[in-house]
Amino acid sequence: MKTVIANWKMNPLSLNEALNLVKKYKIYKNLDIWIAPPYLYLIPLITKFRKIKFGSQNIYFQDKGPYTGEISPKMIKKIGGKFVIINHSERRKIGENFKIANQKIISVINSNLTAIVCLGEDKIIKNIKILKSEWQKQIKILFKNINLNNKSIILAYEPTWAISTYKQGSVSPEIVSEFIKFIKNLGFNNKIVYGGSVFIDNIKIYLDLPLDGFLIGSQSLKPKNFNKICDLIDKSI
Ligand code: 13P
Repeated sequence: MKTVIANWKMNPLSLNEALNLVKKYKIYKNLDIWIAPPYLYLIPLITKFRKIKFGSQNIYFQDKGPYTGEISPKMIKKIGGKFVIINHSERRKIGENFKIANQKIISVINSNLTAIVCLGEDKIIKNIKILKSEWQKQIKILFKNINLNNKSIILAYEPTWAISTYKQGSVSPEIVSEFIKFIKNLGFNNKIVYGGSVFIDNIKIYLDLPLDGFLIGSQSLKPKNFNKICDLIDKSI
């Protein structure tokens, strides 16, 4: 079963738009559709759409207490959320780091939610040795005191530079393939998804890779495009 995770980021502006967006998403037999909307829309969406898994784009690593403005994994679990995205580069841009992400992964796993852990280089690195040492460095901090093969972990290879906001294109399938080999060599046997400028016209280049799915930003806000991308993934299974 492949998984397509829609990261809506800070969109859309109203609950009505959020409900309409999900209504337009197609449901597949062999493809899991997961959606990470803004926190505010989680309860109404979870209540209304039973066939889709919903989760959050972030959490704090404590269960409860004096942490103004934060939401805990236990709260996400209690309302029926299934997963949490951790270490997204847009969180790092506003001050988070890999050490904080490490604590978040632990708290998400302890709450019996799936942790979708983002990682990847910030800038384009052409030298494969340097690239691998960057991945190694990130993994070491992210998974300190965590079993890489904990079944609650999904890795999302999503280099910052490849996110559509930066208009620098997506990662070549060769490099994604290197990443998969690298991570498997470390003994990682869980799911790996790719994220970064996934569009209708480039999804095909990734479909022969041993990936378990995709993490999609901008195109997940355009249901027609999103469905078309999912159709192509579905056909390739
Ligand atoms: P884009 O699909 O817009 O590049 O965004 C990727 C992303 O940030 C998903 O987490």
